[in-house]
Amino acid sequence: MVPTFIILFLYVFVSLGSHPTRAQTWVQAGYWFSGSEFPTSDINSTLFTHLICAFANLNSSSYELSISASDEQHFSAFTNTVKLKNPSVSTLLSIGGGSADPLVMASMASNSSHRKSFIDSTIKMARLYGFHGLDFSWVSADTGSDMTNMATLFEEWRTAIQLETRNASQSQLILTATVPYSMYSASSTYPIDSLRRNLDWLHVLAFDFHTPTGENFTRGHAVLYDPGSETNTDFGINSWIGGGLPANQLVLGLPFYGYAWTLVNPMDNTIGAPATGPAISSDGAMSYNNIRNYIQRYGADVVYNGTYVMNYCTFEATWIGFDDVEVVRMKVSYAREKKLLGYFVWQIPQDDNWVLSQAAAYANGDINQEKKRRLLLPILIPIVVVMVMILVGMLTYYLLKAKMRKRKRKTTIVQVAESSKHKANQKAAAGDFHNNDPNMMVYSLSDLEVATCGFSLENKLGEGGYGPVYKGVLANGQEIAIKKLSKTSTQGYEEFKNEVMLTATLQHVNLVRVLGFCIENEEQMLIYEYMPNKTLGYYLYDHIRRLMLDWRKRVEIIEGVTQGLLYLQEYSRLTVIHRDLKASNILLDKDMKPKISDFGMAKIFRKDEVEANTNRIVGTYGYVPPEYVRQGLYSTKSDVYGFGVLLLQIISGKKNSCSYGLHENLSLLDFAYELWREGKGMEFMDISLDDTTSSYKLLRCMHVALLCVQENANDRPTMLDVSSMLRNETKAMADPKRPAFSAKRNNDEESQSRLQVEICSVLRLMILRFRKSLLGESLGIFQHKNHINRPPM
Ligand SMILES: *[C@@H]1O[C@H](CO)[C@@H](O)[C@H](O)[C@H]1NC(C)=O
Ligand SMILES: *[C@@H]1O[C@H](CO)[C@@H](O)[C@H](O)[C@H]1NC(C)=O
Ligand SMILES: *[C@@H]1O[C@H](CO)[C@@H](O)[C@H](O)[C@H]1NC(C)=O
Ligand SMILES: *[C@@H]1O[C@H](CO)[C@@H](O)[C@H](O)[C@H]1NC(C)=O
Ligand SMILES: *[C@@H]1O[C@H](CO)[C@@H](O)[C@H](O)[C@H]1NC(C)=O
Ligand SMILES: *[C@@H]1O[C@H](CO)[C@@H](O)[C@H](O)[C@H]1NC(C)=O
Repeated sequence: MVPTFIILFLYVFVSLGSHPTRAQTWVQAGYWFSGSEFPTSDINSTLFTHLICAFANLNSSSYELSISASDEQHFSAFTNTVKLKNPSVSTLLSIGGGSADPLVMASMASNSSHRKSFIDSTIKMARLYGFHGLDFSWVSADTGSDMTNMATLFEEWRTAIQLETRNASQSQLILTATVPYSMYSASSTYPIDSLRRNLDWLHVLAFDFHTPTGENFTRGHAVLYDPGSETNTDFGINSWIGGGLPANQLVLGLPFYGYAWTLVNPMDNTIGAPATGPAISSDGAMSYNNIRNYIQRYGADVVYNGTYVMNYCTFEATWIGFDDVEVVRMKVSYAREKKLLGYFVWQIPQDDNWVLSQAAAYANGDINQEKKRRLLLPILIPIVVVMVMILVGMLTYYLLKAKMRKRKRKTTIVQVAESSKHKANQKAAAGDFHNNDPNMMVYSLSDLEVATCGFSLENKLGEGGYGPVYKGVLANGQEIAIKKLSKTSTQGYEEFKNEVMLTATLQHVNLVRVLGFCIENEEQMLIYEYMPNKTLGYYLYDHIRRLMLDWRKRVEIIEGVTQGLLYLQEYSRLTVIHRDLKASNILLDKDMKPKISDFGMAKIFRKDEVEANTNRIVGTYGYVPPEYVRQGLYSTKSDVYGFGVLLLQIISGKKNSCSYGLHENLSLLDFAYELWREGKGMEFMDISLDDTTSSYKLLRCMHVALLCVQENANDRPTMLDVSSMLRNETKAMADPKRPAFSAKRNNDEESQSRLQVEICSVLRLMILRFRKSLLGESLGIFQHKNHINRPPM
């Protein structure tokens, strides 16, 4: 308790003293459209966290970005101008929009060389003009092939952005896109997986549901709810979340405009009244400031309708549906309640004296309170006063509680950093943790004991690289997996905390997530998310369970593992070599999505190191490449080799510890290679698999796998190559050379027979090395016998 308080105090002190406020977790974005001719210097930037400059266009022959001469002046000065009023505002350059040529957009996305020109030019332009990110608005995307191409485009875009960040001194560019209000609204569905993986967030265009040009009954064009139809914001948001996009990747659109309709009968002016078409303008569209002017000039009554959550006003035969202050508040409260990432407005210049922007920025976030406010305000002021007092009390209480919780969470990180005397650690902590918000929890031993019934045998899930793993259920019902580091471990307190921190920086949907840790009574434990569906090996090697993994599921697994490895090798700040990839280290979550686990053997490199040498060999027979066994050399290509073996197993359902072929004298790799050479690749496959309806083909996977397991590490593709080969983007693939390890071996993976000379002091060494590299000291530690011969953990 005492140290916690000291640390809390320290944290408060430190955060007051030197830390800027944390990165925004609530997005308040607004589009500025150059067509509005609203001066950028007049934008009230203080009301926004992100300002989006719209739109850049595509050159129809080169597919590079093009900005008209008149826009160029505004676009190039946009960031500097809006930052004058709010230095912490971030800016995005939006590309496309409603007037972009659908053919040019589709043609850009469909051809890999066009995509490359496009992507390169977007990054170049963003940097040139100082934008913090890019927003893609391809509103005409509709066909199935548009969606497939969009998925690829975002995949490549993110890759390019990540590569660029390595060179740039600035932080990584944000990448967002606009999407329709619902994932079902186009004639095909959006590529959710790619959107989720590659975009920071989506701008959901929750408006234009109904327009007076197309319908003959008055309707709200951006209603939150609609009892009579699925065309409403709530339905759309739920469809995205139901389709697999996390709520916190969605940013809700607020229209700062409405539509004017001409009523058939001025006396019948409800929602749903007969109308004959648009009023006031050719399509009826009217900015909020024009609507306010109109209301003032004609003294029109504004009605709020809580069933739909919309406003409308009528003057004679003109009926205008729009969002006024209370609707904006309700929608923002809705976004908070749904735990969305935030809201964006289209478009800023249409606001009237910042009224809507302020309503959005200051909405309190409780939709029920918002409803109550509307109901109670006109009734009795004393009741309101009492209620407000109660609410304020509650709010203060919750805010304080939330603040405490937040502090506690951060404390753990600061604790780790502060308690270290090493400058390097502090640097690592400051550099990696304050940015990353790893959400690490400190668990108490007693809670974990309760969660696992005293670490009972029934709750033991298995034995990992360096200690037993238990399943636990916390008091709040959350299921966790607890890895207990063996007591004989000589890994020190400092190293353990470092490990936790390093692991925490590795965050990816296809890596098992570390939730926190526990250090008490000489126990050191890591707490992971619990994976209910065991491991890939559990299914693959059982002739019944194997049937549960059809080709579609296996493709998802292959894709997931590929993404996990790409992250480890290419996209994370450090290069991580797992070194023990195998079917039993691929865990499956409740949706059978794969997550790579067990970083007990992992080795971390700085980005500029290519390979390293060790005297100690870790890993599992059959998955380790020859250069590693023979010379102790390993590089990212070692994991490519492991991936190749895994891929062969996934398509064949065969163990790599058995012998195959007529004379039962071939290893799995040789067997695959021989069949391939004889043109009989299909004989290798698991007969239950059917790839006819999939774009992933079994033979192509086999080809890729054989390239991955080639003897010479230089011949093996990189994971980036693998990823694009699997997706069938590289037309020509080399013929595979003979795989490594031609001699047969008799080892069973599941029996955990490892090549390792000692278990896992790698992590400790790795951490020492990491620390040294930060200190700029010699990096030779791995070759040093004294370290290598430390007692096993
Ligand atoms: C901009 O917004 C801030 C915050 O609501 C407000 O205090 C200020 O008056 C606004 N500025 C202008 C020029 O309206
Ligand atoms: C489009 O790009 C081509 C080739 O770079 C260039 O010649 C042409 O002028 C560009 N067109 C426009 C409208 O910028
Ligand atoms: C892509 O575009 C390039 C350049 O316009 C062209 O040479 C190539 O054939 C196109 N590729 C495909 C697959 O259409
Ligand atoms: C990174 O910088 C190097 C050297 O300045 C350059 O050759 C390389 O093309 C750059 N890479 C990217 C992705 O910009
Ligand atoms: C709406 O009513 C007008 C006038 O009666 C008519 O000309 C138009 O075709 C109608 N539009 C639709 C979509 O029904
Ligand atoms: C909203 O409008 C509809 C249609 O006119 C009506 O049936 C409903 O009662 C209204 N709801 C409220 C809360 O005013």
